[in-house]
Amino acid sequence: MHRALLEWYAAHARDLPWRRTKDPYLIWLSEIILQQTRVEQGLPYYQRFVQRFPDVEALASAPDSEVMKLWEGLGYYRRAENMLRAAREIKEKYKGRFPSTFDELIKLPGIGPYTAAAVASFAFDEPVAVTDGNVMRVLSRLIGKAFPVDHAPGIKQWRAQAQNFLNRQAPALHNQAVMELGALVCTPQNPSCDKCPLAAWCTARRENRTGELPLRKGKKKPGIRPMHYLISVRNGQVALRQRRGQDIWRRLYEFPLWEGREKGSRRTGKKLKEIFGLKEMPLFLGHTVHLLTHRKLELYFWYTPEEIPDFPYIPLSQMHELSLPVPLRRAWEELNT
Ligand code: ADE
Repeated sequence: MHRALLEWYAAHARDLPWRRTKDPYLIWLSEIILQQTRVEQGLPYYQRFVQRFPDVEALASAPDSEVMKLWEGLGYYRRAENMLRAAREIKEKYKGRFPSTFDELIKLPGIGPYTAAAVASFAFDEPVAVTDGNVMRVLSRLIGKAFPVDHAPGIKQWRAQAQNFLNRQAPALHNQAVMELGALVCTPQNPSCDKCPLAAWCTARRENRTGELPLRKGKKKPGIRPMHYLISVRNGQVALRQRRGQDIWRRLYEFPLWEGREKGSRRTGKKLKEIFGLKEMPLFLGHTVHLLTHRKLELYFWYTPEEIPDFPYIPLSQMHELSLPVPLRRAWEELNT
C-alpha cells in the first residue's frame, strides 16, 4: 500500500511551491495560510508573504498593520495574529532557529496537532502522521470505520489510525500523498476509485459505502446574525472605527454598526437614527449575505448625509491602507463605482 501510494503521488501530485522546499518557515507559512483556505485561493497570498517576508526574522520584525493588510481577504484573522506571535517567539526564544520537533512546535501560538505534524514531518521527516479532513476521509473509506470526523473523540481515533498507517521510512512524502489522494481522487462526492492506487485494499469500495463514509455527526445550522452598517461620508472623510474584543474580524475597520435582531425595516432605520444621534432617518441601501463556518451574517447597509456625533472619521484617501472585512470592502467598492 505504501509503495502504491508513493508511486501514485510521484506521478500525479500537483506541483505546489511549499512542496519544493524543506524550509520549515515556508512550510509553516503555507500550512497557516491553507488551514481554512483552498489551495487556489491561498497560493497568491503565500507568494506575496514569501516575497515580502522571506524568513521568520523578517516576519517577526514586521509591523502588525502590514501583516494584517497583506492578510486582507483570507479571513479568520486570528491566524495572522497567531502567526506573528509565533514568529516573534521563534525570533526571541529560539534565536530565529525554527523549532524542529512536534513537541516544540505544538507549543507555539496557532499551531495545533495538524500543523505541528505537518511541519515536523514535511521539514524534518519526523515520523508523525498528519490528520486533516482529507486524511480522515481516505482512512475512513480505506478501513471502513465510521468514527465521526467532526467530533473530538472521533478525530482522536483518526489520529491514532493515521499514525498506525504512517510510512515511517518516508513520513514527509507519505503524509503529503495521503492528503493529495484525498484532495484529488478520494473526494467527498463521487470519488474516482478507478484512479485510486489503494482501490484494491479499500473497504468502502468493496462494500459500496463510499457515499456514507466518512461519517459526520452533523452540524447545527449556522445562526443568523443581522448587522446594520451606517455609512456616513462628510468633507472627504468616512465614519470608520477599529473593531475590538474577541469577536469576528478582530482589529479590522468597519463603519458604524448596530447589531439588531431584525432585518432591514423601517423600525431599524428609526433605531439607527436614535442610536447614532441623527436628525433624520438614514436611507436603506441594500443587503448582502456572508457565510462563516458557524454563522450566517446578514449585512444591511444604510446611508446618512449627516455627520455622526462623537464618531471617529478617517480621510477617504486612507481607506485603501486599512484592513476591512471583505464584505464591507465589497460594499464600499460597489458604492463607489
Ligand atoms: N492543504 C493543507 N496543507 C497542504 C499541503 N501541504 N499541500 C496541499 N494542500 C494542503
